[in-house]
Amino acid sequence: MMTTTTAQTTAETLTDEQIAAYRTQGFVHIPGILSPEEAAHFHEVAQDFAKGGPALSNQAIFQQLVNVWRQDEGMKALTLHPNIGTVAEKLAGVPLRIWHDQILIKKPHNGAPTEWHQDQPYWPHLESVQPISCWIALCDVPVERGCMTFIPGSQVRTDLRAQNLSDPDSLFSICPELKWEARVTVPLKAGDCTFHHGRCAHMATPNFTDDPRIAHVVIFMDAATKFSGAPHVVTQNAGFAVGEPLSGELFPQVAEYAAE
Ligand code: SIN
Ligand code: NI
Repeated sequence: MMTTTTAQTTAETLTDEQIAAYRTQGFVHIPGILSPEEAAHFHEVAQDFAKGGPALSNQAIFQQLVNVWRQDEGMKALTLHPNIGTVAEKLAGVPLRIWHDQILIKKPHNGAPTEWHQDQPYWPHLESVQPISCWIALCDVPVERGCMTFIPGSQVRTDLRAQNLSDPDSLFSICPELKWEARVTVPLKAGDCTFHHGRCAHMATPNFTDDPRIAHVVIFMDAATKFSGAPHVVTQNAGFAVGEPLSGELFPQVAEYAAE
């Protein structure tokens, strides 16, 4: 069945089927997390912000700009968009807070896939069982421009060590049985998103088109997540002790900012 990509989705209109699909498969395609006007606005804001970022080769997997909500009021309005946080909480079924955000740009004709990986093994988290990321297409992202592909159900593999997202064999050398699972590729219209669990294995296709692929990812963790002490750019120099809750102004709680 074709899915429509014109409807808006809010926490009120999110269906039981969408929630069940997320919980079973570890990801779900949500049309219209942003209106077309919001997507066009944030596309411009993200592109302007990225101009000030580091230069990188055209063949790089992506240009990655982390924690932009801390640096730019325009991007903060996107990361702390109440619709994104409230839908994420309903899908996850637990209170959440922002872990970090990132703009991810694949340059035109970069030709480089983002290889298979799970996200959570990179993070210095203890007791975060429902991490969830919202990957928002700020422009149309057909398969040819670098969309996400998932292995449904792989979020149950919470036992795997970190994988290398520039090595196509990394995930499958660590977990050979995942190679034979079905994969689902999700092209997105501007303003649509996917939500995925931090343990759901995914990759993104290369950009073969003349336009940059501009995506924004808002990453949430359980509100009660504690610091593991592992190195990470977001927690470096932030003064957290091992076992301490990752809370405070660096990690806004959805229930607080969405109620404002
Ligand atoms: C990408 O957008 O290229 C990858 C995003 C992700 O790995 O979460
Ligand atoms: Ni990822």
